[in-house]
Amino acid sequence: MILSSWSVALQGIDGHAVEVEAAEGGGLPRTQIVGLPDKALNEAKERVKAAARACELKWPEQLCTINLSPAGLPKAGTHYDLAIAVAALGTQGLISPDKATRTVLLGELALDGRVRRVRGILPAMLAAVKAGFERAIVPTGQVAEAALVPGIAVEGAGRLDEVVQLVNGLTVENPSEAAQPSEPAPDVRPAFVPDLADVVGHEDGKFALEVAAAGRHHLFLHGAPGVGKTMLASRLPSILPDLDDDESVEVSALHSLAGHELTGLITRPPFADPHHSTTPVALVGGGSGELKPGAISLAHRGVLFLDEAPDFGAKLDALRTPLENGWINVSRARMSTRFPARFQLILAANPCPCGKYGVQGMDCTCDSVKVRRYQERLSGPILDRIDIKHQMAGINRMLLDVGTATTPEASAAVLERVLAARERQRHRLRRTPWTTNGEVAGPYLRKHLPLPSDLGVLNSALQRGSISARGVDKVLRLAWTLTDLAGAGQITNRELRAALQLRQGEQERAA
Ligand SMILES: Nc1ncnc2c1ncn2[C@@H]1O[C@H](COP(=O)(O)OP(=O)(O)O)[C@@H](O)[C@H]1O
Ligand SMILES: [Mg+2]
Ligand SMILES: [Zn+2]
Repeated sequence: MILSSWSVALQGIDGHAVEVEAAEGGGLPRTQIVGLPDKALNEAKERVKAAARACELKWPEQLCTINLSPAGLPKAGTHYDLAIAVAALGTQGLISPDKATRTVLLGELALDGRVRRVRGILPAMLAAVKAGFERAIVPTGQVAEAALVPGIAVEGAGRLDEVVQLVNGLTVENPSEAAQPSEPAPDVRPAFVPDLADVVGHEDGKFALEVAAAGRHHLFLHGAPGVGKTMLASRLPSILPDLDDDESVEVSALHSLAGHELTGLITRPPFADPHHSTTPVALVGGGSGELKPGAISLAHRGVLFLDEAPDFGAKLDALRTPLENGWINVSRARMSTRFPARFQLILAANPCPCGKYGVQGMDCTCDSVKVRRYQERLSGPILDRIDIKHQMAGINRMLLDVGTATTPEASAAVLERVLAARERQRHRLRRTPWTTNGEVAGPYLRKHLPLPSDLGVLNSALQRGSISARGVDKVLRLAWTLTDLAGAGQITNRELRAALQLRQGEQERAA
């Protein structure tokens, strides 16, 4: 008798239903899996067999062939274990016919029969609902995550025998607890977001941060060590609006894939700040087992903060494609996957390895070649894609004025302005695929949005060679954000000039 069960193949955050069929007979007693399984999946036969034995469930005695279809779809991961076990146990008459047809099964099995938590429950559930499944069985502890997707009944199981009972339509009174995932993931979602009110002075730096937040522009902060670059950058999340519904699902799906525990949809923009010693795989995604999203995808629709950016070295080159397209392609052997990676890039850097180059009253100890190399690591392709460059100066005097000076503005007040500016952008761009100025494509910017009546400032900057063609688009995007922050409907000369200065690293208030 052939019985089939169902699971989901994930490619990035897209999923496809996979039918798992098992047939017994015609050969020596062993279990084989066909239909493009990867290594981890191929090892499933050992896990499910041991789990069945641990739960005292009868395993096929002859050759048991497990077929995963569609065959052409590459299949990776360990979450097929439950579907494989159920299909195989079906050959022993342990599963009532037809019971497994409308149910999707997600979970890994431990050798002792326990169900293990898996990554990617959320995107798998999205695919299951789309494919019309009515019921899902997932590891206990991940029911809440699975239930974030409406339109499908979710049940949790902690052991293989409980899975069998549930599939057969029986209830399990107290399902046991699922085991931890085989590779637990570090979380990049900030638990606590610091406030701009802590930052004394730096009015221009805060304004640059506000503009970056309002239009989702990339920002580069440079200056001597200790001036507050890290402090300022880490406060960006405090002035970013919530994600919209679609973004929320997309971001949550990526974090689910990374193995982060989800108790609700992620509604705040994520903030990823990988250390410069991070591996290329941890930064951009990939891996030797299953392909996993990296920091740039965990920062999708949020912030990627690279502190001490020159120290990332050659790893920075991998950011070029995602900065252009909003996604990254990762591959290994015959698997290739695309993960969304549309992040807002914030870079911070000292002027040289010792940090004292060009700082008044300090002596840099680096030789000139070292200084140039350090600065060059950021130059070219990456720096050209940065919208706002801001040089931060020392603030000793302002720190000492703390008692007498007025309290710095809190993040909540800045967020109000950012929200208003975002609303104006959303309205202007309502018939486009974009919602913020930072994303708008160059041609649309130049041909479909009203240009400032006087382009003199921009033209002379172009003629002087102080701005590139890509730079023109960047300046226009920034000018729109300044206009939106000012609550006006049309870019004027003032915004254009201010935008040019933000782009070139000199700072002037638009107000
Ligand atoms: N403008 C400021 N207001 C208040 N504290 C500051 C300011 N700038 C720096 N500090 C203090 O100095 C520390 C070092 O700042 P940091 O942001 O790490 O400097 P950088 O990243 O530029 O080297 C901060 O943790 C903070 O305590
Ligand atoms: Mg720092
Ligand atoms: Zn130096």
